[in-house]
Amino acid sequence: MGYSKSLADTYAKNRNRYRSSDKFLTPLLKKIGIKGATVLDFGCGDGSEAERLLAMGAKKIVGVDSSAQMIRLAKAKKLSKSEFSINGTKLKQKAGQFDIVFSRFVLHYIRDLRGQFKELSRVTKKGGHFLALFQCLTDDPKLINTQLPINLGKGRNVTKIKILAKSIDMIREDLSKAGFKPIKMLKVKNSDSSIDPLYKNRFRFKNSTYVLLVEKV
Ligand SMILES: C[S@@+](CC[C@H](N)C(=O)[O-])C[C@H]1O[C@@H](n2cnc3c(N)ncnc32)[C@H](O)[C@@H]1O
Repeated sequence: MGYSKSLADTYAKNRNRYRSSDKFLTPLLKKIGIKGATVLDFGCGDGSEAERLLAMGAKKIVGVDSSAQMIRLAKAKKLSKSEFSINGTKLKQKAGQFDIVFSRFVLHYIRDLRGQFKELSRVTKKGGHFLALFQCLTDDPKLINTQLPINLGKGRNVTKIKILAKSIDMIREDLSKAGFKPIKMLKVKNSDSSIDPLYKNRFRFKNSTYVLLVEKV
């Protein structure tokens, strides 16, 4: 589910308006030691988070994204101490090389999260961390991976995306199967995202945003 050129450009233009839940990430990044860390930014988008992580003292950022258009935007930033490339489910990176795997608003695009978590776990150092911000849309196992339309922002600054319904229970189970030990799982406030009001089945879903922090065991 890589972003097309128009979606990548629209998202990149508006993304800094959709940051209401970022305040929950910053203290956790400090707690797990962003200073001097080698970081994989999984689903790095236009490289804005790489820039933020470097400003917080990260040593190196490896950004991967399934969208060639997002990687084009990230490379255009010409950041130092960073490299960006397109990824598939299997990552090209060697095992055990990252102190931190970071992923902001990406997990809800991935159908096979267990398989993806196993890959993210493979490239994380033992004792390293995986920190993610993502949306869940259901508690009902039968609705997992239903695709539904979401509006980011409002009015002229709206970006229309489609994401997959995830359940927090399934995510917990998939993380554990991939060798991650939970440290924190917080339901957080996110005033930027709403299920499209025209979507006829919207009442079967509930939109919630989580921050998760886990450790590779
Ligand atoms: C909402 S954007 C977030 C981008 C960036 N993390 C940020 O915070 O600005 C979601 C990103 O996830 C990427 N994405 C979707 N599926 C992916 C996958 N399977 N692997 C890597 N990236 C993916 C999209 O191309 C897009 O850049």
